[in-house]
Amino acid sequence: MLRRPRRLRASNSIRNLVRETKVNIEDLIYPLFVVEGENIKEEIKSLPDVYHLSVDRLEEEIKELNELGIEHILLFGIPDEKDCCGSEAFNDNGIVQKAIRKVKEIDPNMNVITDVCMCQYTSHGHCGILTEEGYVDNDQTLEYLAKISVSHAKAGADMVAPSDMMDGRIEAIREALDENGLETVGIMAYSVKYASNFYGPFREAAHSAPSFGDRKTYQMDPANVNEAVLEAELDMLEGADILMVKPALSYLDVIRRVKDNFNLPLAAYNVSGEYSMLKLAVKEGLLDEKAIYESVMSIKRAGADIIITYFAKDIAKMLKK
Ligand code: PBG
Repeated sequence: MLRRPRRLRASNSIRNLVRETKVNIEDLIYPLFVVEGENIKEEIKSLPDVYHLSVDRLEEEIKELNELGIEHILLFGIPDEKDCCGSEAFNDNGIVQKAIRKVKEIDPNMNVITDVCMCQYTSHGHCGILTEEGYVDNDQTLEYLAKISVSHAKAGADMVAPSDMMDGRIEAIREALDENGLETVGIMAYSVKYASNFYGPFREAAHSAPSFGDRKTYQMDPANVNEAVLEAELDMLEGADILMVKPALSYLDVIRRVKDNFNLPLAAYNVSGEYSMLKLAVKEGLLDEKAIYESVMSIKRAGADIIITYFAKDIAKMLKK
């Protein structure tokens, strides 16, 4: 036998030498949920080991991330007040804006990315402004997304991440940022975002489930992949700095397709449902925690350069061992 693949599997060191894919701590973005109020650190029931934090409790969280070597966060704000048009989302003293300033005060080097969407902020829970018929009005919503992005950027965000799936939003946001002298602030676009059932635990965490209907008129049909390439292309042409596919694990083929077609950094969102399933299985002792690394690594192997994951702390601890 001339070819014996097992030769390269014979010892730990030889396996280390030929390993093709590695997850690095700097690839990972950790989502943070910030709430109004004081002295709040409350575990989110649907997301074990993930917390709702008030701004005054951010310091210990950021210190923990620093110690683990996690350099990027994705901020989600959960406001107290909701209305038709998500006014709290572009309030310069809103929950995300306060959190951004606080994180930058604690650690100016923390890369702060903010989720730009309206669903946590609207009384109806949809990701935009509604027409009288209850349809999300694309072009009117663009003005709001642009205002929200500018407000986040002025508070000090390094990058904004629009997750609403309106058409033309990247261009609208890019123009608004530039007009406000914020041309160094980047855009990580939720380019390929499916109307997925795997967002369930997040919607409980963010109180953002739609009060009627669903998100199928703006988020993508899980069956489509040509459309993913089209969405990614539009975002690239409109000025996105980083593209994203979401969710990740049930969409590894989509990640590969987008990666092979575009020369922009590609992120994948390992979403709440993907997290909670596996986390609970590990907590119950059904699976070894190494399944977490294997699962996150598969997203990288599929082609993602960057992974947004609630597992970032678990991975950091495993990498340190
Ligand atoms: C906001 C938003 C959602 C997620 C990220 N941003 C929920 C949704 O679209 O309903 C989901 C993240 C997760 O499940 O971890 N639009």
